[in-house]
Amino acid sequence: MTKRIGILTSGGDCGGLNAAIRAVALRAHHGFGWTTVGMRYGTLGLLKRPVDALEIDPNRLEGALARQGGTFLGSTNHGNPFAFPMPDGSVKDRSAEMLDGIRSLGIDALVGVGGDGSLAILRRLLAPSGLAFIGIPKTIDNDVADTERAIGHATAVSIATEALDRLQPTGASHERIMVLEVMGRDAGHIAIAAAIAGCADVVLIPEVRWHLDRVVAHIAGQRATRRMSSLVVVAEAAGDSDESPDPASDAPHHGIGEWLARRLAKATGADARATVLGHVQRGAMPTAEDRLLASALGVRAVDLLAEGKADRMVAWQNRQVVDVPLESVVGRSRTVDPDGTLVRTARGLGICLGDAA
Ligand code: F6P
Repeated sequence: MTKRIGILTSGGDCGGLNAAIRAVALRAHHGFGWTTVGMRYGTLGLLKRPVDALEIDPNRLEGALARQGGTFLGSTNHGNPFAFPMPDGSVKDRSAEMLDGIRSLGIDALVGVGGDGSLAILRRLLAPSGLAFIGIPKTIDNDVADTERAIGHATAVSIATEALDRLQPTGASHERIMVLEVMGRDAGHIAIAAAIAGCADVVLIPEVRWHLDRVVAHIAGQRATRRMSSLVVVAEAAGDSDESPDPASDAPHHGIGEWLARRLAKATGADARATVLGHVQRGAMPTAEDRLLASALGVRAVDLLAEGKADRMVAWQNRQVVDVPLESVVGRSRTVDPDGTLVRTARGLGICLGDAA
């Protein structure tokens, strides 16, 4: 029996999504002779009639696709079927329409590439249909439970590290404190990894409660020894300080980098500048590591379907691709372990985390 599988990318885009789509479609075609249907703009395409979807031509899956950032299928982080935002500001349950859309495609199974929120939504959406669902974890934030890596994180870390490489010489030339605000939503994975790789002096993450006076003391101590410029990395949600920015602001998305630079300048007397890296972290050509991860997870996702498995997420653990029950993934978030390897490494390198340790 010919199988027809669907694939969609959902949530914020990141490097490696095209490589994942390519891997799924190649494995489906070459491994099993299946057809892959790509759905456009995450769940949004499912509301169009006919559904906005395309059959993926296996002859168009050349390597160039794996090198491209973004997702050629499009994505959305505003398409919750159960609380869909309507033009009048209300929210509506449109799950039945979306499910009808999926059924109209005649697929036997769906592969969803998303973060924990998207995977939870897709799993719930498909539950009444009986269609097999396999999740592939992606997010620059790297906060999906039960996988050490999510597609896109390595690329974001590489971009943040490169930003530090570029901020260091200009900071040194002007004897400035250079603050780099990075994304990560509620987790500090990008910040801590980039701080280590980019040789920062300070890193502030939501998982470690920090205090401005400790950061000031660290920078002042450096300046006392003629180390006149400092690199500070701050995660967008690292507002867990006794002097955090206005809680009424729209944190975690914006603001902490500028706020911190102002406070550090005032407290140390040094010149300080903030850079908010923003979506630059998402839009790059994926690193080799992300292409590799996306390829390995994509191939395994299709193999799981061929084995008759469903309601699983492919994951990376101990340098292997494994699969875990989606049930255990959804509703949980993997934040930075304050006693884990990366935090210990940062401390071992003398990087200040703004706490007492
Ligand atoms: O989850 C990925 C992410 O890039 C977060 O790091 C960030 O907080 C958020 O999405 C930004 O969302 P948007 O693209 O809607 O601005």
